[in-house]
Amino acid sequence: MVLRNALLAASGSGRLRAAVERSAAARSMVRRFIAGEEADDAVRTVGELAGQGLLATVDRLGEDVGHPAAAEEAVRGYLGLLERLDDAGLTGAAEVSVKPSAVGLALGPEGGALARAGLDRICAAAAEVGTTVTLDMEDEAAVEPTLGLLRALRERHPSLGVAVQSYLRRTEDDVRALAAQRVRVRLVKGAYAPDPERAHTARRDVDAAYVRCLRTLMAGEAYPMVATHDPRLIGIARALAARYGRDRKGYELQMIYGARPDEQLRLAAAGERMRVYVPYGRDWYGYLLRRLAERPANVGFAARSLATR
Ligand code: FDA
Repeated sequence: MVLRNALLAASGSGRLRAAVERSAAARSMVRRFIAGEEADDAVRTVGELAGQGLLATVDRLGEDVGHPAAAEEAVRGYLGLLERLDDAGLTGAAEVSVKPSAVGLALGPEGGALARAGLDRICAAAAEVGTTVTLDMEDEAAVEPTLGLLRALRERHPSLGVAVQSYLRRTEDDVRALAAQRVRVRLVKGAYAPDPERAHTARRDVDAAYVRCLRTLMAGEAYPMVATHDPRLIGIARALAARYGRDRKGYELQMIYGARPDEQLRLAAAGERMRVYVPYGRDWYGYLLRRLAERPANVGFAARSLATR
C-alpha cells in the first residue's frame, strides 16, 4: 500500500518522470502495455486483436491538459483515430475510451463546457462510423463532473458509457442510479488514491463492494462491462449473468492490453465478449505508473531500475 501510494504520488512528479522516461526497464514496460505512439499503431493492434476474436476500446493517452489548445488537439486526435478505425473496417470491433481531463475538464471554470463540447464532437463522430464512446473515471475530484457530463451528453448520445470505481463508497449509489437506465457501465476497482474517509481501503472491502455493484448492474437495465483481471470476480460476474438471464451479448468482460493476454484469449474462446483496453500515444507516464502501482511484480522491476539512477 505504501509503495502503491508512492507510485501514484510520483505520477505527478516531473523529476521522476524524466528519470522514468530515460529508464530502459520503463521502455520495456511501455512496449508491453502501450500499443505504440501513433494512431496507426493502435489501429494495427486492434486489427491483430480482432483477428484473435477480441474486441477493443482505444484510449489516446493524455490527461490533465494544461491549456485549451491541448484539449482541442486531444479531440482532433480522437476524430482522426475514429476515421482510421473506419477506414480499416474495424469500428465493429473497437470503440474509444476518453479521459474527461484530456479534453479539458480540469481547466478551471470553463473546463466543464470545454470538455462537453469536445466530447459531443467525439460522440457524434463515433456514432457516424457506428461505434461508441466510454468515459474513463479519474481521480475523486473528477467523479461528480464526469457523471454530470454523462447525464448531459446522453440526451444526444444515448450510447455513451462511463467507468465507475468500486473503491469509492459513493459508487454503490451511483451504480443504483445508472442501473435503472440503459447506460453502458464499466465497473473497475479504481486506480487513483482517493481520500480514505470516502473510500474502501482494504482490498477485501473494495472487492466486496465490486460484487455488490456487479449484482446491481446485472439485475438492472444497464449494460455491464466487467473490467478486472481478478479471476474470482470474473467467475462471480459470469455466475451472476447466468442467474439474471443475461446471454453473452448482455454483458462483456474487459482487461487491459498487456495484462493476462492468455486469459483474454481463453475467455474469448469460451464464448465471452472480451474487450481489451488499448492505449496509444506519447503521453504514457501517468498511465504506466498506475499499471505499476497495481502489480507488485511490476513495481519491484521498475523500482530496481530507478534505484540505479
Ligand atoms: P487486482 O489488481 O486487485 O488484482 C486481482 C487479482 O487479479 C490478482 O491477485 C491476480 O490474481 C489477478 N491479476 C491482476 N492483474 C494481473 C496481471 N497483470 N497478470 C496476472 N494476474 C493478474 N481505473 C480507474 O480508476 N478508472 C478507469 O477508468 C479505469 N479503466 C479501466 C479499464 C479497464 C478495461 C480495466 C481492466 C481497468 C481499468 N481501470 C480503471 C483500472 C482498475 O481500476 C484497476 O486498477 C485494475 O484493473 C487492477 O485491478 P483488478 O481489478 O485487475 O484487480
